[in-house]
Amino acid sequence: MTQRVFSGMQPTSDSLHLGNFLGALTQWVALQDTHHAIYSVVDLHALTVSPDRDVLVRRTRATAAQYLAAGVDPDRSILFVQSHVPQHTELTWILSTFTGMGEASRMTQFKDKSTKVGESGTNVGLFTYPILQAADILLYDTNVVPVGEDQRQHLELSRDLAQRLNSRLGEGTAVVPEVHIVKEVAKIFDLQDPTAKMSKSSSSPNGVIDILDDPKAITKRIKSAVTDTDTVIRFDREHKPGVSNLLTIYSALTGRPVDDIVADYEGKMYGHLKVDLADVVVAALTPVREAALEWIESPERLDSVLAQGAEKASAIAQATLERIYERVGLLPLKHR
Ligand code: TRP
Repeated sequence: MTQRVFSGMQPTSDSLHLGNFLGALTQWVALQDTHHAIYSVVDLHALTVSPDRDVLVRRTRATAAQYLAAGVDPDRSILFVQSHVPQHTELTWILSTFTGMGEASRMTQFKDKSTKVGESGTNVGLFTYPILQAADILLYDTNVVPVGEDQRQHLELSRDLAQRLNSRLGEGTAVVPEVHIVKEVAKIFDLQDPTAKMSKSSSSPNGVIDILDDPKAITKRIKSAVTDTDTVIRFDREHKPGVSNLLTIYSALTGRPVDDIVADYEGKMYGHLKVDLADVVVAALTPVREAALEWIESPERLDSVLAQGAEKASAIAQATLERIYERVGLLPLKHR
């Protein structure tokens, strides 16, 4: 049987960045060839940071638009918005009764986030966030979950919960998901601080390339990328993180090995590499940006794709939920 993949991103920014694009989206798109893929815009997770109402609506559509523009194909895969499928919150409750206080308290992402906002700013949703994530995954009998390194601990919890369901409720209750960590080669760093991951919470907007940036902004950001006082173009993540990051982006977008690119730039200056890289990035992102903007500008068409996705997702999710409800001993509702 075809293996099932599930992944999701929170709608917490207007534009995904190059790191999301190379680290996650291109991989999601490729996985459609070999797997039954299910991709979600996880808006319920985004509620944990108390977004403004209009901003959340806009970002949920924009995130879905960018999945589609990058090549997520709603005819082959399922693309849906998490809150459109109520089974996610329903299974979260069941799973919360299988999660120990201790194991939930050990989640480092919760500890980091709650320390940042302080106890008074922390909500319980932030604490139960990884349980909702486990529900996302287990509802679809997911075999493989492609995520970044920062999600490893959350995935470990999903696996533990699946195993616990199987041992307490009987084998076959849940599929234990495998973690598929994004390859090192696609790890993109901040252009202004090339030792930090490119991230939407970057301290400088100039360090980040957004999918929806126009060509002028992209070019400007690459030209002002931090390098070093040396002049040789070579790959050395430790001593030359800035140049290495530029080479990684170049390689990831062209599919050419880093060594070939380094050979091409022998005796040339950083400026040459930057000018060419700006062209490479603009060429790669322009069609994605244009397609995303088209989807964003036709919300009815987008919403209808999302409605179809929700329908397909619900059918799978409902079957799983009924199986689990029955096994935990919730009395089945017999319709009159
Ligand atoms: N927590 C994930 C992140 O921040 C997003 C997410 C929610 C997710 N549910 C998921 C990822 C299920 C994979 C599978 O990146």
